[in-house]
Amino acid sequence: MGDIVIPSEFNERYSKLLGEDNKIFLDFCKKPLKKCIRINTLKVKNTDKFIENLDERYKLEKVPFCPYAYFIDHLNPGKMPEYFFGEIYIQDAASLIPPIALNLNPDGDEFVFDACAAPGSKTTQMAQIMNNKGCIVANDASNDRIKALFFNLESYGVMNIIVTGINMERPVPEKLYNKFTQILVDAPCSCEGTVRKDRKVLSRWSVRLLNFLSVQQKKIIKNAINMLKKDGILVYSTCTLAPEENEEVIDYALGNFDVEVEEIEIKNLKIREGITEWNGNDLSKDLKKCIRIYPQDNDTEGFFVTKLRKI
Ligand SMILES: C[S@@+](CC[C@H](N)C(=O)[O-])C[C@H]1O[C@@H](n2cnc3c(N)ncnc32)[C@H](O)[C@@H]1O
Repeated sequence: MGDIVIPSEFNERYSKLLGEDNKIFLDFCKKPLKKCIRINTLKVKNTDKFIENLDERYKLEKVPFCPYAYFIDHLNPGKMPEYFFGEIYIQDAASLIPPIALNLNPDGDEFVFDACAAPGSKTTQMAQIMNNKGCIVANDASNDRIKALFFNLESYGVMNIIVTGINMERPVPEKLYNKFTQILVDAPCSCEGTVRKDRKVLSRWSVRLLNFLSVQQKKIIKNAINMLKKDGILVYSTCTLAPEENEEVIDYALGNFDVEVEEIEIKNLKIREGITEWNGNDLSKDLKKCIRIYPQDNDTEGFFVTKLRKI
């Protein structure tokens, strides 16, 4: 990717956040993203044999922090027969992290709300971790995107699912309060972290946009926290690294609701801790437990993930 234009304000912000590492960050923003596939274990029962077969045709490299995902040298995995059969999902490696950060298991006792679910990368991944047991309510405010969600749920063999179209910026009905054991808020965001696959992201970028999104994200997390049971887990994630859309949203949640930040422990994942000061404002020290995934650290997209527990 040759002549990508980095806005000067973007550059200044990341100089502040990263110091000397800003150069390598900007270099990685210009590097094409490695293709990554997730093996859909809802359909593929013998993963060893499946991988053996793929390995004969393509160069595969295990994603170090996810046992069922691989980088692949295929230029367009969407043309692979395995994709048409719903056996692989094309998903960036960093986008695998939020479902892994939740406390999901295959035992079937979780009632999960996926607040911003379409087109369903993480919903289908959560269903696979849960082995199609328990129940996921997959929600999205966009009717068009819900069509893609339905398509993916069907293609990937997801059975433990209910789909809803609640606008999470508006107050949710009280009958939905304190209902879910786990919630994923994979919030709409400025997508800074996806610049390696979509260079248009930076032509739409402005600090005004980040501040606008931050207001929206605070409304969404507030409503999601209301829906979470006491002692339940909420993972908040974005594919951006802007503090306004990340630490400032979590700081708002910590200051206004009964939630605390939990440590996220994922083996073989290189992370940087959340920041506790931005634009001259002190934020909660607990934000250090949030994780920032910079593109240069694991050769992925950029991502931000936080795990909250309702107390
Ligand atoms: C980052 S995308 C979600 C990606 C999805 N989790 C996945 O892994 O495939 C954010 C989603 O939030 C939805 N959204 C935006 N505003 C919303 C709102 N107020 N309530 C619910 N969903 C919303 C968008 O339609 C979009 O599908």
